[in-house]
Amino acid sequence: MNDNSVYAAIGGEPTFDRLVSGFYAQVPGDDILGPMYPADDMEGAANRLKWFLMQYWGGPTEYQERRGHPRLRMRHHPFPIDRAAAIRWVELMENSLALIEEETIPPVYRHMLRDHFERVAAMLINMPD
Ligand code: HEM
Repeated sequence: MNDNSVYAAIGGEPTFDRLVSGFYAQVPGDDILGPMYPADDMEGAANRLKWFLMQYWGGPTEYQERRGHPRLRMRHHPFPIDRAAAIRWVELMENSLALIEEETIPPVYRHMLRDHFERVAAMLINMPD
């Protein structure tokens, strides 16, 4: 692990745990996203997203070891992702980020996380409006 990583700067795994748990806590009740996620494996889904984000931001490479290359566009192909779904995904992540105090995730890192979420969500759109 790289000590200069964003991963380390924002508190490592406990912070990613909070971010991803806060996101998934909202998913089952969400009218757009709820039906897409596996109701019987929300914990698995939460882990996969957490491993991916930790790895992306310079933490342990558990995602690679367990899941291989991310290929996010291909892995999202089965889900009907239009612009509204992408916007909602980012919104739920924003809500989760808002619950984490600024001492843990200072504004500059908050910006970087948001920017990444927005870019990836836009890239995953696979259905017209
Ligand atoms: C654009 C709106 C999005 C929708 C509707 C969506 C939906 C989903 C669904 C339904 C799954 C399957 C859950 C599972 O069993 O793992 C999934 C998996 C995943 N998503 Fe998304 N997602 C979106 C955006 C994103 C973004 C922005 C990222 C990354 C920043 C992301 C990263 C992942 C990862 C890493 C997995 C697990 C892939 C695997 O290893 O199988 N998703 N997503």
